[in-house]
Amino acid sequence: MCGIVGYIGNKEAYPIILNGLKRLEYRGYDSAGVALYDGTTIQMAKTKGKVADLEARVAKEIATSGKLGIGHTRWATHGVPNDINSHPHYSNSGDLVIIHNGIIENYASIKKELINRGYTFKSDTDTEVLVNLIEEIKKKENVKLGKAVQIALNQVIGAYAIVLFDRNKPDEIVVAKLGSPLAIGIGDEEFFVASDATPFIEFTNNAIYLEDEEMAIIRLKKGVKVRKIKDDSLVDPYIQELQLNLEQIEKGGYDHFMLKEIYEQPSVIKDTYRGRLLADQGIIRLGGLEDHIKKFTNAQRIIIVACGTSWHAGLVAEYIFEEWARIPVEVEYASEFRYRNPIISDKDVVIAISQSGETADTLAAIKLAKQRGAFVYGVCNVVGSTISRETDSGTYTHAGPEIGVASTKAFTTQITVLTMIALRLAKDKGSISQSDYMKHLRELEMIPTLVSEALKEEEKIKEIAAVFKDARNFLYLGRGYNFPVALEGALKLKEISYIHAEGYPAAEMKHGPIALIDEQMPVVVIAVNSNHYEKVVSNIEEIKARKGKIIAVVTEGDTEVKELADYIMEVPRTPESLSPLVTTIPLQLLSYHIALMLGKNVDQPRNLAKSVTVE
Ligand code: M6R
Repeated sequence: MCGIVGYIGNKEAYPIILNGLKRLEYRGYDSAGVALYDGTTIQMAKTKGKVADLEARVAKEIATSGKLGIGHTRWATHGVPNDINSHPHYSNSGDLVIIHNGIIENYASIKKELINRGYTFKSDTDTEVLVNLIEEIKKKENVKLGKAVQIALNQVIGAYAIVLFDRNKPDEIVVAKLGSPLAIGIGDEEFFVASDATPFIEFTNNAIYLEDEEMAIIRLKKGVKVRKIKDDSLVDPYIQELQLNLEQIEKGGYDHFMLKEIYEQPSVIKDTYRGRLLADQGIIRLGGLEDHIKKFTNAQRIIIVACGTSWHAGLVAEYIFEEWARIPVEVEYASEFRYRNPIISDKDVVIAISQSGETADTLAAIKLAKQRGAFVYGVCNVVGSTISRETDSGTYTHAGPEIGVASTKAFTTQITVLTMIALRLAKDKGSISQSDYMKHLRELEMIPTLVSEALKEEEKIKEIAAVFKDARNFLYLGRGYNFPVALEGALKLKEISYIHAEGYPAAEMKHGPIALIDEQMPVVVIAVNSNHYEKVVSNIEEIKARKGKIIAVVTEGDTEVKELADYIMEVPRTPESLSPLVTTIPLQLLSYHIALMLGKNVDQPRNLAKSVTVE
């Protein structure tokens, strides 16, 4: 995970690096560091803690001049988060300086070998081993930095995005990628490198996204040369025009990115179906799907692979696909799927869902599915991400940058995409009637309005949050389409408030979790109008009989559950199959307000990072 950023050009590097690190902090925030080079002296500052701590340390400790700079914000893998383990790292001679996002798996044996040759190490990191391996090769083979990097990377096992420079080459930086993302921004006589394009979006719209096993040598006057790490062959890189704008990556008046992203849902759901769903004409047209419809409609099975919130969106899709398109669906944790020996064939379609498009486990699951002949379709948010490139085809969610570590708008836009795919397949297969198809299109088009309505409950939800903020445990229950919403509600609470929460299918409660219920236990029950309404009411009675505290998500105007529940959060009436898009809103707001009242860092919860590029 970790965020890396680098600059070489005609401007002072420090403000660009610092600002870039702030934008990349969502990727990791255990420690941070920066190295600046003015052609004479390398200045370095590193600290445990966040980018703000680094900024304070830099102000006290180092000069900030230099038109070459690299910076890092860390999510610790090897070595505890402390000042010494923070990046950048020097090589033993002090000539090479490196930052790294990823893991070098065989670092221990390389380290042993380097120690035998007289190298010493200050940190516990795999990164310091890598920079010294490069130094050793550079000296021993008497080669330039780029060549030494290429030879070294052929010896390491693991994942990396690295940026490094050599004290003796003030006009050059070298970067390389395998498994962790790396974008190169191409400006006017200046170059940027970063884990994503956000650090340089105000300077250039032109970027190269390095592919796995590629490296680039960036020289101030000569530009970018991309090569294959394996055989050193030259690559003609594709320069992509970025669609990002600055506004999208700022808080826009909200206190937190998470709250901004919750409130963006009506508009981003619209962006997700804009131009793709033409309800009046009965059309759903998804670019990535058009040429592959038959693959789906003839599929013996759809396997969905994903992690975390994206996995929950996959579970919602299971209900929708099976109901409408009548194709059997299995939803798998990518991390389990990749290490089983799954039975997959070319008759299967695999859908990989990922907001970041960089999740290591999902990526590995995709590779496995492709090896075994399945057609793999991606549902990603980040344009140009590794998963979007590795899949055979796919659909972007168009949610815009999601910066809060806890996913919100990613979830609802993923469901929107998956709903459109299911409807389109159902139509082509003839598994729903034309009138039902038309009805569902119109209903989907209404969702942004219903989400806006649901957001109006925020003040009431705040009051509920105040009552339950000190609870140590929560139970979330839902049935059918809203079972995955219960899982997602519990995940949101856990991630940002550190309160233990479990999501369960409501009917499963009696098989175990009911033992947990006493007068201290808040139970959030999704009890909107649905086929299961009466059953859920019975579950609520069971909780009440054991004195649990009931917080119910109900359909506006509901009277029956209102009578039974201690607190209610109302949502507008929504067709059952689309209800997760609406019932998830109060649960997002509830966790946001509880975390806020507990003084937690809502956007950057402890131990987490936005994109999980390690296993
Ligand atoms: O980027 P992805 O959708 O692949 O990420 C998957 C999970 O890491 C992610 O959903 C995680 O669970 C979030 N923190 C949930 O809020």
